[in-house]
Amino acid sequence: MTSLLELRALTKSVPGGRVLFQDLSLSVAPGELVAIVGESGSGKSTLLNMAAGLERYDAGQILIGGEDLALLDEQGLTDLRRRQIGFVFQAFHILPYLTLRRNVALPLALAAGDKNDIDARADAMIELVGLGNRGSDYARDLSGGELQRIAIARALIHKPALILADEPTGNLDSETAARILQLFADSTRNSGSAGLLVTHSAAAAAIADRTLVLTATGLAPVNVK
Ligand SMILES: Nc1ncnc2c1ncn2[C@@H]1O[C@H](COP(=O)(O)OP(=O)(O)OP(=O)(O)O)[C@@H](O)[C@H]1O
Ligand SMILES: [Mg+2]
Repeated sequence: MTSLLELRALTKSVPGGRVLFQDLSLSVAPGELVAIVGESGSGKSTLLNMAAGLERYDAGQILIGGEDLALLDEQGLTDLRRRQIGFVFQAFHILPYLTLRRNVALPLALAAGDKNDIDARADAMIELVGLGNRGSDYARDLSGGELQRIAIARALIHKPALILADEPTGNLDSETAARILQLFADSTRNSGSAGLLVTHSAAAAAIADRTLVLTATGLAPVNVK
């Protein structure tokens, strides 16, 4: 099967010269959920940012749906992100002075669509992440775990082909985390999206199809089941 995300022989060093990883390769197929583990500072967030076209690399190639990121300009990358990628940032990036509904609906607001329809979809996503009918609440009033779930709802609402999630359950209790992980698994398996999930959680690694550990020599399989 053709892969949705393809990382080929990537090398990345940080300003100052330290090499984070070298010759890193990975293919994620449609419908596949891959977990990435690794020590703090090993470069997991950097790798996700690179896959989203938010950070450059020193050598190698990144293809999304067969499209080479290096051949796209800033506008092309922005369009690709809007259309194809759902990103859950480690630091959420939720806008405090918007309601939950407006935050979750952001990826839809850029496409043409009926406002009532967009609101209904946002509310349905908010319900799915366990925040019931709180769409009219303001994001500034939310707890850390609630903000995290709003970030997840926003990342999934436009049914992206590629889901990139950085520690998406780090602020959640184990029961809520299990529900959210199931949502990621459903989003990939049912809609044929590819998912890359950075995690420290054994539960997250266990629900993934494969778990890989990131080290300076690249990605290696780990057995967590
Ligand atoms: N602009 C930069 N300048 C210098 N060092 C950087 C820069 N960006 C990232 N780094 C370094 O690169 C390394 C990898 O960072 P990254 O955030 O990807 O790690 P991580 O695996 O996500 O860690 P964590 O599990 O703590 O989130 C870190 O040591 C970080 O300090
Ligand atoms: Mg990180």
